[in-house]
Amino acid sequence: MNTNVVKAYGAQTSESDVLPMDIKRREVMPKDVEIDILFCGVCHSDLHFVKNDWGFSVYPVVPGHEIVGRVKNVGSSVSRFKVGDTVAVGCLVDSCRSCNNCKADLEQYCPEWVGTYGGHDKHLDLPTFGGYSENVIVEEHFVLSVPDNLDMAGVAPILCAGITTWSPLRHWNVTAKSKVAVVGLGGLGHMAIKLAHALGAEVTLFSRSPSKEQDAKDLGADKVVISTDAKQMEEAQNYFDVIIDTVPYIHDINPYVATLATNGTLVLVGYLGPLDPMLNSVPMIMGRKQVAGSLIGGIAETQELLDFCGEHNITSEVEVIAIQDINKAYDRMLKSDVRYRFVIDMASL
Ligand SMILES: NC(=O)c1ccc[n+]([C@@H]2O[C@H](COP(=O)([O-])OP(=O)(O)OC[C@H]3O[C@@H](n4cnc5c(N)ncnc54)[C@H](OP(=O)(O)O)[C@@H]3O)[C@@H](O)[C@H]2O)c1
Ligand SMILES: [Zn+2]
Ligand SMILES: [Zn+2]
Repeated sequence: MNTNVVKAYGAQTSESDVLPMDIKRREVMPKDVEIDILFCGVCHSDLHFVKNDWGFSVYPVVPGHEIVGRVKNVGSSVSRFKVGDTVAVGCLVDSCRSCNNCKADLEQYCPEWVGTYGGHDKHLDLPTFGGYSENVIVEEHFVLSVPDNLDMAGVAPILCAGITTWSPLRHWNVTAKSKVAVVGLGGLGHMAIKLAHALGAEVTLFSRSPSKEQDAKDLGADKVVISTDAKQMEEAQNYFDVIIDTVPYIHDINPYVATLATNGTLVLVGYLGPLDPMLNSVPMIMGRKQVAGSLIGGIAETQELLDFCGEHNITSEVEVIAIQDINKAYDRMLKSDVRYRFVIDMASL
């Protein structure tokens, strides 16, 4: 197959910075959409993957799975998009399309799902490369429409931070009657607050950072609980229907389980790995409380979210950066110094 060489930024090893590199993209096939990338959000998963925090990184890695761009070219059988359309790509670029999960619009749980980066491009027999690049070529099914009333830089984080929090809010039936809590005010956390608030729920933020209290209220939180304050944690017990925990690193979740109401569910979306300290089953059994996990969202659900954001005029709070500042952005992300998502203006490439 013919390939094209395009400019990108990526990491060669877990020790290296994210630096300029050239990558190969496949030629446009009949079902493909070629997208010139305009903006790409910076997710904490990009940093985990560059640093091999999860142990399954593939190098070189070109991160980026919050992509907004413009259609440059379409394959002969593409029907939903045309040259010039504003479109988006999230965390998924392929799946088997025939398993039960794929048939149920849950492509993210397909055993063969292909991540936007660090996956395997079956057409090229090469790793997939993400959005810190000039362009991307993606099968039509995995391309999303962007409502035209929204700011393009602010849309990008909806593709991961947004859908990762929307999917559990919807799955656990959050409505105007729900009491929702969000743990951690970063990229995912701030979208969780906005979306739960837009669904009409009462929203509380758990944060280690008292300096973020006013921002949380401006984003739609009704209350803020400082998680390091034992008295405030004690006062929050037995209250929430759904908690979305976005903390990226290992932490004790038992104090949050204590704040669930009977039948409540704590959904882990951040930290990936064994828990330490262990989960105490006593409050779970005595209060019929649940601890669960959730991975991004399917393509139909992501389009549902983009449409919801268009109707409710919701975008992410972004700090737009040049690609050359990506390593500094990662350092700031590690210090929780992001308000509340870095988005790369790809014109800087
Ligand atoms: N499940 C999925 O499908 C999925 C999808 C996307 C991302 N993720 C994962 O979700 C996590 C969050 O991503 P993000 O982009 O939102 O990250 P982020 O912007 O860095 O935000 C994380 C927030 O968690 C809090 N935090 C950070 N370190 C902490 C620690 N050691 N202990 C307690 N709290 C801490 C901070 O909030 P406060 O200052 O308010 O405490 C921080 O702002 C990452 O691990 C990412 O890989 C999962
Ligand atoms: Zn992400
Ligand atoms: Zn499948």
